[in-house]
Amino acid sequence: MAPRCANTQLANRVVSDPTRLAVLGNPIDHSLSPEIHQQFAAQFGRQINYGKQRLESEGFSDFVRQFFASGGAGLNVTVPFKIQAYECADWHDNSALQAGAANTLSVTDEGIGAWNTDGLGLVNDLISRHGFDLAHKNILIIGAGGATQGILGPLLARQPAAVAVANRTEAKATGIARQALLRYPQCSISVLGLEELSETGEHFDLIINSTSLGLDGGQVNMHPRLTSSAFCYDLSYGQSARFAKWARATGAGMVADGLGMLVEQAALSFSIWFGDQPATDEIYQRLAERIDND
Ligand code: ATR
Repeated sequence: MAPRCANTQLANRVVSDPTRLAVLGNPIDHSLSPEIHQQFAAQFGRQINYGKQRLESEGFSDFVRQFFASGGAGLNVTVPFKIQAYECADWHDNSALQAGAANTLSVTDEGIGAWNTDGLGLVNDLISRHGFDLAHKNILIIGAGGATQGILGPLLARQPAAVAVANRTEAKATGIARQALLRYPQCSISVLGLEELSETGEHFDLIINSTSLGLDGGQVNMHPRLTSSAFCYDLSYGQSARFAKWARATGAGMVADGLGMLVEQAALSFSIWFGDQPATDEIYQRLAERIDND
């Protein structure tokens, strides 16, 4: 387990700078978070100083400790540090506890608090932007890594009819499903092997690609019949959203990439830090147009 970012360090912090924020990850160059948060801050006339920082795994907890000890207000954390972020916090919001990972850290009177806004960000994007009500729907999630762990609880909380998790390594999907059933015993969760996606006769209302396959230029193999009447949602966006591209090309009913989720999870982080709830449509539209033209 990574060293905790000890509370005592926070007690000694000298400067408090509520404007200082950053996103940590590796890689991080292409992160849209600074631009999104600047736009949010402008809505409330706030000045923020939001940086991006590429870190190596060994340096993560030291960086976090120093950032907060020197008065920084909040951090976003992305791949591959969400589990380390969880481990180095002093306390965890329920959203982080459910996911076992954190994408938002904030300094509080009780030390560093950890949240995970990914799952609720996805749910808000589905419901508010796309008008997709999750209740009583059949959902397929492809992938059983950290991203799935982050979204599964908030999806189940919306009372879908059933959720199936398909993963290359079936044992990982089984583990995640078991954990989720402990919290949501009334839910129906099943596990599929990836190869079953080309032959299953099941109908899904929503298919979520949560694998990292698109980052390597790969694509999940599945029968177009599955996607033709489903809402196909790719957690990746831009060039990596290969599942979304494929679904569009094969005539899926409705398709979205993960840009909306990115903006929504950022809005939730912003409200954790400042208590303000930013509007998300304008920045979403601007980024969507830019990414489409790339
Ligand atoms: P993340 O935090 O983005 O979820 P992760 O925890 O490394 O990243 O999970 C990556 C997911 O993509 C996993 O479900 C992984 O499948 P395995 O659990 O079998 O590793 C899936 N994935 C990655 N590369 C894949 C590939 N070439 N084929 C199928 N699934 C792949």
